[in-house]
Amino acid sequence: MISIRNLKKSYGSNHVLHGIDLDVRAGEFVVMLGLSGAGKSTLLRCMNGLVKPDSGSLTVGGIDICRKHSRRELAQQAAMVFQHHNLVPRLSVRKNVLTGRLGQLGTLASIAQFFRASDLQLADACLQRVGLLHKADARTDALSGGQMQRVGIARALAQSPKVILADEPVASLDPKTATSVLQYLREATRELGIAVVCNLHQVEYAREFGDRVVGLSQGRMVFDGGPDELDDAALQAIYHQPTEAAVSSMHAAEQGGRWLKPLAATAGAM
Ligand SMILES: Nc1ncnc2c1ncn2[C@@H]1O[C@H](COP(=O)(O)OP(=O)(O)OP(=O)(O)O)[C@@H](O)[C@H]1O
Ligand SMILES: [Mg+2]
Repeated sequence: MISIRNLKKSYGSNHVLHGIDLDVRAGEFVVMLGLSGAGKSTLLRCMNGLVKPDSGSLTVGGIDICRKHSRRELAQQAAMVFQHHNLVPRLSVRKNVLTGRLGQLGTLASIAQFFRASDLQLADACLQRVGLLHKADARTDALSGGQMQRVGIARALAQSPKVILADEPVASLDPKTATSVLQYLREATRELGIAVVCNLHQVEYAREFGDRVVGLSQGRMVFDGGPDELDDAALQAIYHQPTEAAVSSMHAAEQGGRWLKPLAATAGAM
């Protein structure tokens, strides 16, 4: 479903991705681990067409993402789930999910927000999948953080994408809520055969939810294996010798209240 070969990306003299090779199958749930600054978000954004790599190849569902594509073509391939879900607070839950369909509508229908009955049915089916159909008419800002992230997942599902790219989707949630959100994401995507690449900072979630775990360190893939293979040696390869920039970025994240305890505990154990 996703095929990446020798992908490289630099920002000026900062070489962020050093030749990534990765294949992800339909329905596979891949967790990506790595220190802050390892290049996880950059890799996800390359898969979504938001960042243009310098060289290498990247196809999603057989489509070359590095070529120029319409918004509609990209939306049919990959949907994003963000840490802060990026929902419109004053809109109803259903309307937020329907925005996942906007990319698939023609320009005029999109401007007029003219949704077909089939779009409405799909939006409700996606809400059902994340257990929130009963909240369809509620204002989104009346939901809890975990519920909002489930709406973010429903919106991504409503795009009918081949892959979902989730960038730290549970970083702002407490452990119980985070587990429930990841469960919804895994079940829905597995049943629909959607491939998932999910950036996380929590090793124990990678073990619990990943069909497969990849580890990035300073823009290189240093681990690719099953969750049961994520042993001390693998964690050493992924998290060892954090760069000064990564340490200060982790520190900044902690100051910002991000939930990094398991990562800190892992680093401390080494
Ligand atoms: N738009 C950009 N312009 C310049 N540099 C960038 C840009 N986006 C990312 N970078 C740099 O690329 C490197 C990798 O950043 P990236 O966001 O991919 O890391 P990450 O693994 O997602 O980290 P985190 O866990 O903190 O989210 C960092 O050094 C970052 O400063
Ligand atoms: Mg990131």
